[in-house]
Amino acid sequence: MYFFNRNKGECVMEKKWWQDAIIYQIYLRSFKDSNNDGIGDFNGLISKLDYLNDLGVNAIWVSPHYQSPMDDNGYDVSNYYKVSKDYGNIDNVVDFIEKAHARDMKVIFDLVLNHTSDEHEWFEAAKDPSHPDHLKYHDYYIWQKPKYDNEGNKKMPTNWRSWFGGPVWEYNEKTDEYYLHIFSKKMPDLNWRNENMKNDLKAVAKWWIDKGVDGFRVDASNHLEKNWDFPDAHPGYEHFSSLPKHHEYLEEFGVEIFGPNDIMAMGEAGGATKEEAIKYCGYENNEFDMLIHFGHCWADCDDSNHITPGKWSKGKIDVKSIKNSFNKWFKMLNGEGWNLIYWHNHDHPRILSHYGNDSVYHNESGKMLAYILYMMPGTPIVYQGEEIGMTNVDYENLTDFRDVEVYTEYDNFLSFGATHEVAMQTLRDRSRDNARSPFQWDSSINAGFSSTTPWMNVNRNFSAINLEKQIKDETSIYSTYKSLFKLRKEENISDGILEFIDIENDSSFIYTNETKTAIFLVVSNFTTHKIMTNLDIDINGYENIYNNYTNRELNKEMKLLPYEALVYKKKK
Ligand code: NOJ
Ligand code: CA
Repeated sequence: MYFFNRNKGECVMEKKWWQDAIIYQIYLRSFKDSNNDGIGDFNGLISKLDYLNDLGVNAIWVSPHYQSPMDDNGYDVSNYYKVSKDYGNIDNVVDFIEKAHARDMKVIFDLVLNHTSDEHEWFEAAKDPSHPDHLKYHDYYIWQKPKYDNEGNKKMPTNWRSWFGGPVWEYNEKTDEYYLHIFSKKMPDLNWRNENMKNDLKAVAKWWIDKGVDGFRVDASNHLEKNWDFPDAHPGYEHFSSLPKHHEYLEEFGVEIFGPNDIMAMGEAGGATKEEAIKYCGYENNEFDMLIHFGHCWADCDDSNHITPGKWSKGKIDVKSIKNSFNKWFKMLNGEGWNLIYWHNHDHPRILSHYGNDSVYHNESGKMLAYILYMMPGTPIVYQGEEIGMTNVDYENLTDFRDVEVYTEYDNFLSFGATHEVAMQTLRDRSRDNARSPFQWDSSINAGFSSTTPWMNVNRNFSAINLEKQIKDETSIYSTYKSLFKLRKEENISDGILEFIDIENDSSFIYTNETKTAIFLVVSNFTTHKIMTNLDIDINGYENIYNNYTNRELNKEMKLLPYEALVYKKKK
């Protein structure tokens, strides 16, 4: 297998560290609080490095840790060079990097390049003509003059809708202009057509590289370019998503910053055609090394629901489409780029509640999801708490939720005709806060996350679902994750070739991963009812290595119980 080395500008036989990595995503605010102010922090993370090392992960992606008013939990950066006081200080960060490195773990930081906070000094100057640096910074953002209707009333420049539910424009009296924000109004979008702005962001990345960072996850990377003709369109996402020019910006960043510093870069982007996928993360291209895409993430939306529409509408899980998404990406990048695999991140519901079953089949479905993902080739990202089967939140009051998006969307649901109960259930099923409740370490107060009331309530199921309990139990979800991670390394699972079996079947999830030394076969039932397999393969020589009910010999026809899953191995 060949890997492109950007430093040498050629294909070489050497494998990069991130191709063997198991990345663990830390949502810092909710991981571990060290000073009992109810907020997770760097010292809390440091105190858990041995835990992560023992789990078998060897790279850590930390959610944004920069100074921020926390409108969007740090994705609204007000100073890229400062550490949020919630999380500690620069010495704690350097200490974290050193201690992670001492354990052979790589450090990946989140790089937010699409927008800043409205409290960033660039924006403070940009919005105020009396500010001494106004002229320098005004064009760092995207401004448009108001439009007027026939009666002379002010109108927004376009009717585009932001990702968080309201309009993308906010009026600024001092300049009589609107600024663009595709996320919250406290997150003005940066103007990537401005050379000085780009250079300032490159300097930010370089500064953190000099602190010892090994990689970046580039936030909202397909939104950097906008359609500057500003046509009306609702919701209008196509005018600020995946426009061709954003590849030029990413290429420039990659060539000047990531490549020369041997930095692993993983971008975040919605969908992509094969041509685009190769631009993002083809071995011979310079943008990223891997791509976080969402092909498999919302395979259960009910398009007929107009009361809680889009991602909020919970429907039947389309198992075929989940398989087809994984398959598409492996085929698209086959031999030309490297795949990244994950179930969910901090923007999605908990996978066990979303695609599994958190009431009757907690343990079974949690393990099924684990076998399916972690027996696949590519580089996995595990999201904090996934390894103990954490579930969606059980909040009863709207005020229990913390996410900025929740509040705009709750009002939208009511205006579309939802009752309070329907809106609340929708939030419990689909909101991003599901993934953000504090890590459940043990059964002590606040699940061992903090001795003070946490910034966000702990899930009430923490005495049943927590790490301390699962560590002692060989049959727990945690023990399964740990064992799978060990196997991934021993068997070079990341290098294998993925082939689905009966991909159009809407209940089963069956595939082989062929490595240099063995064929691994995953046979599973993705539903709550019993199903029958009809395996059209040579079944000889397979040995059962994992199961979530009992050990069973491989057969062409097998009756699988709800969420039953088995992993088989055949030596070559
Ligand atoms: C994607 C991040 O994952 C999400 O949490 C954030 O709200 C948006 N980008 C805006 O930065
Ligand atoms: Ca703290």
